[in-house]
Amino acid sequence: MIFEQRVKQALSRRQEQGLLRHTEIFRQGQLLTHSHLEQPLVNFSSNDYLGLAQDKELISVWQQGLSLYGCGSGASPVVTGTTQAHADLKARLCEWLGYPSAILLSSGFSANQALIFTLLKQGDLLLQDKLNHASLIEAGLLSPTEMVRFKHNDLDDLHKKLTKVSTKQVAKLIISEGVFSMDGDQAPVLQLMTLAQSQQAWLALDDAHGLGVLGEFGGGTVEVTGIKPTLLVVTFGKALGISGAAILCDQATGEYLTQFARHYVYSTAMPPAQAYALNHSINMVQQQKWRREKLAELSAYFQDKVGKMPHYRATQTTIKPWICGRSEDALALSDELKQQDLWVGAIRPPTVTANAARLRITLNATHSKHDIERLSQALQRFYGERGNSQLIASQQEKAHG
Ligand SMILES: Cc1ncc(COP(=O)(O)O)c(C=O)c1O
Repeated sequence: MIFEQRVKQALSRRQEQGLLRHTEIFRQGQLLTHSHLEQPLVNFSSNDYLGLAQDKELISVWQQGLSLYGCGSGASPVVTGTTQAHADLKARLCEWLGYPSAILLSSGFSANQALIFTLLKQGDLLLQDKLNHASLIEAGLLSPTEMVRFKHNDLDDLHKKLTKVSTKQVAKLIISEGVFSMDGDQAPVLQLMTLAQSQQAWLALDDAHGLGVLGEFGGGTVEVTGIKPTLLVVTFGKALGISGAAILCDQATGEYLTQFARHYVYSTAMPPAQAYALNHSINMVQQQKWRREKLAELSAYFQDKVGKMPHYRATQTTIKPWICGRSEDALALSDELKQQDLWVGAIRPPTVTANAARLRITLNATHSKHDIERLSQALQRFYGERGNSQLIASQQEKAHG
C-alpha cells in the first residue's frame, strides 16, 4: 500500500507541475521520424554532434567487428570480457588524450559513479560545480564524503570553500564539466587546475560534451587548453556516435580503479564489436576535420540569425541554450516548433534550476544552413506573433540573477 501511494503521488505531483517526461519513439536518420507524426522532423536535440551515429562507414566497421568478435563480451573485463579490441581502444585513448591509463565503462553515468564511489572516503572533501551532471551530483550525495557545491564557474566561491578545510590531511577532489551540458559554456580549466594544485587537491573533468567537438583533432577540452586534469571522464555516446565511456588517469589510479571500482569489476564489459567500432570512430573524429568546420559555420550562421534575441546565449560549442523561463513557455515553444517539423525538446526543472526552463538546441554536422534558417525563422515568428519576447527575457534574467 505504501509503495502504491508513493508511486501515485509522485506521478501526479509531476503531472501537476507540468514536468512529466515522455519516452517518444523515433527512427533515427538524416531526419528524425517520430512514430506518431507524419512528417520527418529535423532533429535539434541529439548529442550526436558530428553525425557519426548514422554514418555508413562507421556502421559497416561495427558490422565487421561483429563478424570478428561476435555479439557480447560474455563477462566482466576482469574475468574473460577483455579482448584485443578493448585493449586497442584503451591504448588509443591514452595516446590521443595523453594519459598513461584508461578504464572502459558501459556508460558515462557509471563512469562518474565509479570514480566518486571508489576514490572518496568518509572525511574527504568533494567540491562540485553547481551545474554538474546528475550522475556526478547524485554520486556525491550518496557517497560518505562531505560534498560542497560551488557556484557555477565561480573561482572565488570555490577558493573559499576549498580553503575552509586547511588541513593537508583531508583528501580534496574538485569536479567540473569541461563543457556544461545544459548551458554549453566551458569551465575555466587552467584556473581550476592552478587552484587545485595550490591546495593539494585533485581535479576531475567530465568532458562528455567537449570530446570530438573542441580542438583541431577533436581532443576536446584537454586539447584546446593544453591542461591535463588529474582525472578525465570521456563518453562515447555523444560526438563519437556510439556509447560507453572511459576514465583516464595515471597508472596507479588506473590500477586502483581496476581493482576496486565496482561498476567496472561487477559489470559485463562492453561488446567487443563496439570497442572495435569506437577505435574507428576515433579515427574519423581525428581525421574528418570538416565535421568541426561545418559545425563552426552553422554556429556562426545561427548567431547571425537570432543572436540579438534575448533568449539566445552565445557559446563556443554545439549546445545553444534558448532560455524560456517558465516550463509552460518552453513547452509551448517546443510544441510550436514540432508543428513546423523541427524537433527541439524542452528542458525543465529539476534538470535545470527553477525559472530557467529552456530549449536545449544542439547543432550537428549533418544539419544544413537551410535547417538553421528554418529554425531561426520559426523562433522569430513565435515571439513576433506572441509579442512575449520581453516578458520571457525578464523572467530569465531573474532566473540567472
Ligand atoms: C556531462 C555528462 N556526463 C555524463 C553523462 C552520462 O553519459 P552516458 O549517457 O554515457 O551515461 C552525460 C549524459 O548526458 C553528461 O551530459
